[in-house]
Order: sequence, then C-alpha cells, then structure tokens
Amino acid sequence: MPAATSSSSHGNVVVIDLPTRSRPSRPDVASRGCPQFDVISTPTEDQANIRQDRADADIATGPKVCRAMRRERQDELTQKADAKATNQNKGHSMKLGVIGAGLIGGAVARLASAAGHEVVIANSRGPETLAALAQEIGARAVSAHEAATAEDMVVLSIPFLAVASLSPDLFAATPAGAVIVDTGNYYPQARDGVIAEIEDGMLDSEWVAGRIGRPVVKAFSMLKARSLATRGRKPGTPERIAIAISGDDAQARARVATLIDQTGFDPLDGGAMSESWRQQPGTIGYCHDYDALTLRAALAATNRSRIAWYREEADAFAIEQIKLLGSIEAVSAA
Ligand SMILES: NC(=O)c1ccc[n+]([C@@H]2O[C@H](COP(=O)([O-])OP(=O)(O)OC[C@H]3O[C@@H](n4cnc5c(N)ncnc54)[C@H](OP(=O)(O)O)[C@@H]3O)[C@@H](O)[C@H]2O)c1
Repeated sequence: MPAATSSSSHGNVVVIDLPTRSRPSRPDVASRGCPQFDVISTPTEDQANIRQDRADADIATGPKVCRAMRRERQDELTQKADAKATNQNKGHSMKLGVIGAGLIGGAVARLASAAGHEVVIANSRGPETLAALAQEIGARAVSAHEAATAEDMVVLSIPFLAVASLSPDLFAATPAGAVIVDTGNYYPQARDGVIAEIEDGMLDSEWVAGRIGRPVVKAFSMLKARSLATRGRKPGTPERIAIAISGDDAQARARVATLIDQTGFDPLDGGAMSESWRQQPGTIGYCHDYDALTLRAALAATNRSRIAWYREEADAFAIEQIKLLGSIEAVSAA
C-alpha cells in the first residue's frame, strides 16, 4: 500500500503532507508500495470486503449476482466500443507502434486499441509469437522495425538492458513528426547492469534518447503494470490515477497527454526532459497510484540530490523481491 498522505486546506491553498522517507526496515519495505516491485498479492481490506460481500451474495442470490456482473461487464465493453467509434469518427485515431509487448507495452497497446487507435505491436521474438495477443486486443503484430515506423507515436517499452542492444538503425525510418515515448526504468543491480553514463549523472530517459538517436517523452514509467491494466477510469472520476509526462517538446507532451486521458488516467505535465528525474525509480511518487494533486506534490517534493539514493533503494527492494518471488518477471507483474 502507498505510504499514508494527509491534506488540509488553508484558504485556497491545499497543503499535502507527503511521507518523509528514510531507508525502510524490511517489513516496512514490503508494505511501502514501491511501484513496480510492490507485493500486492494480498488484497487490501476493501478488496477483501468486496470479495467477501460478493461471495456472501453468491451464496444467497447466486444467479442474480452473476447476471448483474455480466451486465456490468457488458456495459464496460459497450462503453469501450463507443469510445473507439467516437475517436474513429472524429478522425482522432492515431497510428501507434508499440515496441515491447510485455506488461507495460501490452497494456498500453490494449488500452490504445480500445480507445480507437490503430495499433501495431512488436517484441524481440518476431510477429508470429504475438499473433494471439494481437488478435485479442485488435492490434497487428509486426517486426520492431515496422513498429518504429508508426506515423504518430512509437512507445518503447522494453527493459533498459535490451535498449543497450537495439539495432542502431531501429528508428532511422521513424517519421519526423512521430512522438517516441519511453516507459523504461533503470535497475542496475536487479536487472539491467550498470550504465556508466547514468551513474555519472545522465537521466534515464536522456540515456534512452541518446541510444536511439531521437528525443523521447517519458511517460507510463511510474505506474505499476497492474494498475495500468486495471485501474483506468473515466475522466472526472474522483481520485483518478495520474500519469506524469516529461519531454522537451510541449506539443509531443500534449499528444501523450491525450493518449493517457483516453487510456483512463489523468495526464500530469511534468515539464522538460531535464525534470524527468522526478519520475525515476524510488522517487516519492513512484508506483503509488496517486491522483493528479498528490502526484504533483510528490514530484515537487522529490529531491534532486537524492537521485542515486532513490535508485539504490528501489534496486535493493527489487533484489529482495526477486529473492521472495523467484524471478524479475514475477516481481514486475506483482
Ligand atoms: N512492470 C511494471 O510494473 C513497469 C511499470 C512501469 C515501467 N516499467 C518499465 O517499462 C519497461 C518494460 O517493462 P515490462 O514490465 O513491460 O517488461 P516485460 O513484461 O519484461 O516486457 C518486455 C517486452 O520487451 C520486449 N523486448 C525485449 N527486447 C526487445 C527488443 N530488442 N526488441 C523488441 N522488443 C523487445 C520483450 O519481448 P520478448 O518477450 O519477445 O523478448 C517483451 O515483450 C521496463 O523498462 C520497465 O522497467 C515497468
């Protein structure tokens, strides 16, 4: 669970007391809600109550409850189909390439397709290994090189380790107007190996931009995959989760903001690429499912002089979780 926050109003100013951070003791780490590496297999009290209510209701009125749940699911599907049709009718449909069809890339592709965008997806093993996923989410499986030629936006969502070995010409044919989104996070000890430039002070997404030879917009990097896949809500929903965006081109940030809104989250403009350290692993808002107001305060409270410490803490937590859960894949999905 995220660390507790509290807020109070003074006239028009809302003051948010964010938790102060010290290196947590072991049990505290597990409940601290480090984004990507939180163990959330234990349901929250609310979730447990809802499940229990449903189970009780099932015993008492099984078929009725099942019908209600089916109706709920049907409404959800109808809403998605309407959103898709609306975007297509308004001519707002983007051509989007997603490189990396794992937890984050797969979720972005699914949500973007449901929002009416024309999506192609790619992984490292070739389109034939993605046929089932592509069909399920209404996308087309292609090679990474083809995904990189998407007209409007290319989302790069692969481990840092893999970015280092991408073909140098991967983005050579990417249209000049396409926005490239980087969802990546750097975990030197737990997964990626040490990258000297980053250890020397380069920001994670600056390094990615340097490797691929194109500017990027950093987004979708702070939210756990599970939250991205399941916690999107309609605009205006109270406490809708926010996703921060950083990049030097304001128009590119605005396009990513539109996509984020369409996928069920409040976009939060995090400013230029030089500010993107506020989104890096272990920072105050990282993996906390905060709404826009709280995430803004969390980004503001993040301390630049502590970048290495934030990273170290997130990395150590990841290593610990790998020991507990058995693999980095299990940790990423938790
Ligand atoms: N998991 C989270 O909660 C989370 C949250 C926010 C940000 N992130 C960050 O987002 C990035 C992706 O994370 P993830 O959890 O989605 O990873 P993931 O589930 O392991 O998926 C990685 C994907 O990248 C593909 N890939 C690897 N190398 C490639 C290459 N050279 N060319 C094309 N595709 C390649 C893999 O394809 P194959 O399977 O064919 O190799 C796979 O589809 C990471 O940097 C991660 O730190 C993760």
